[in-house]
Amino acid sequence: MFALAHLSDPHLSPMPRPKLRELMGKRAVGYFNWRTNRGVHHSVDHLSTLVADMKERGFDHLAVTGDLVNLGLPDEYGLAKRFLESLGTGDRVSMVPGNHDAYVRGTALLHIDMWKDYIAGDEPAQKSGITGAAFPYLRRRGNLAIIGLSTAIPTAPFLATGKLGKTQLLAFEHMLKTMKEENRFRVVLIHHPPAGRHSPHEVLTDANAFRAIVARQGAELVLHGHKHKAMMQKIAGPEADVNVIGVPSASNPGSNPDRGGAYNIYRVGGKAGDWTCQLESYGFAPGGSSIAKLRNVKLI
Ligand SMILES: [Fe+2]
Repeated sequence: MFALAHLSDPHLSPMPRPKLRELMGKRAVGYFNWRTNRGVHHSVDHLSTLVADMKERGFDHLAVTGDLVNLGLPDEYGLAKRFLESLGTGDRVSMVPGNHDAYVRGTALLHIDMWKDYIAGDEPAQKSGITGAAFPYLRRRGNLAIIGLSTAIPTAPFLATGKLGKTQLLAFEHMLKTMKEENRFRVVLIHHPPAGRHSPHEVLTDANAFRAIVARQGAELVLHGHKHKAMMQKIAGPEADVNVIGVPSASNPGSNPDRGGAYNIYRVGGKAGDWTCQLESYGFAPGGSSIAKLRNVKLI
């Protein structure tokens, strides 16, 4: 049995104090939003409690699906690197970036350099990449094939959309096909939800192309963040429906069963053609600061 943990959207704080010249354009809007609204929805204390619980429970591998930072300030990437290091080493933790990790053009690719240990694929060619070609990456862990996609692109103020692009989609389809031939349990990591209906300002613009690839090649599990909400959707695959699961923000201080800070653990067993996968969700118990089991669902 392989235990894959998943957390997302920590939106790490405290936010480093921005320099005045850094607060131009989109960052000015985002900073105002953080100070007046968003900041109170993310608690570093709750995040620490959740991470401590997850580590105590134990996992073989951890998936982190983006939005580690907030405004793309250079100092935020260092803070996020230390957070990743606190979760585990790069071979044990796989991350994909979210829209906040490529918030503005000037620092849009900084995460690829700063967090490279956590996005390096198994193939040597991908390890050296410090360009957009770092994605998709492929990591084999146990019977799993972990495929990491990037939807992180800088956008205009008030937009939180994502895009995969044709080059990445082409490589993604190839990976799904070859990993099926290797009889692996294929887990896809992506920040934006690739299924369901979403507001135009926060949508994955090429979600249709993603779903068409999954419909052709199949996958065993798709994990995402972005919506700060527990979500369970499906994409029709060639043989069976593919589970598409979203986890709330790990730093949300609330105890709402759908939106309160939580993490998931997937217990994967069996073999190709006969996989089993159990989802367990853990988050803050209503009215308390302790962690409780919120869900226990047999996915496959
Ligand atoms: Fe996001």
